[in-house]
Amino acid sequence: MNGPHIIRTCEPLHCCDEVWEAAYLRFETPEEEVAKFVKRLNSLGAAAWPRDAKIVDIFCGRGNGLIALQRLGFTNLVGVDLSERLLQQFQGHGTLYVADCRALPMESDSCDIVIVQGGLHHLPLLPDDLRKTLQEVRRVLRPGGRLVAVEPWLTPFLRFVHALCRVPLLRRAWKHLDALATMIDRERETYENWLNSPQSILECMDRELRCEQRTFAFGKMNYVGVKS
Ligand SMILES: C[S@@+](CC[C@H](N)C(=O)[O-])C[C@H]1O[C@@H](n2cnc3c(N)ncnc32)[C@H](O)[C@@H]1O
Repeated sequence: MNGPHIIRTCEPLHCCDEVWEAAYLRFETPEEEVAKFVKRLNSLGAAAWPRDAKIVDIFCGRGNGLIALQRLGFTNLVGVDLSERLLQQFQGHGTLYVADCRALPMESDSCDIVIVQGGLHHLPLLPDDLRKTLQEVRRVLRPGGRLVAVEPWLTPFLRFVHALCRVPLLRRAWKHLDALATMIDRERETYENWLNSPQSILECMDRELRCEQRTFAFGKMNYVGVKS
């Protein structure tokens, strides 16, 4: 199949405003983002996944996670995001759904891997929305299927980055930092809610999936969980 096929299962919504989306688009070039995702996916076990595994990238935004998967040779790819505007920027192959990740549009027991990179911290209600999303992930995964999640985490490194974001001179001099600070400003409520709820987040994850890998470094939680 050539080009993305976009299926609407709900009215498109913009959880993030245009200022946030513009900052997200200038934070990294697509090439930089894809290279980062390729490296990250390999470190989270992608080398061992069958190339025809059905992989769903939830909260996929403009779909560079899917492009990275394509570069790694995966062929059965699905993306889900609420923003049709971002999905329309996807330049790869696969099926995209305009859908809410708290109600995934896939059949039960139909997916091998679900990936989320920087999406869960956009959920408005914790822990309820996280529980709903993880229950959905568990539902769509086949037994033995995996959730791979990379989300912000309040490590000393992230505290340092937050301190840099508060220095206007640095923001003016360093466009990358300014884009990051703008995104944090616009998503502050859900972002802080997420960063300040580590215990209930971990409990929620452990309730739905068996943890196979969980590390905290450079402002991120890197997680792999299995549906048993
Ligand atoms: C920071 S972006 C991450 C995009 C992508 N994973 C990446 O790393 O490039 C977060 C995305 O989550 C989407 N989003 C927020 N809430 C959502 C929900 N309930 N269901 C589906 N997508 C949602 C937003 O539209 C946005 O594209």
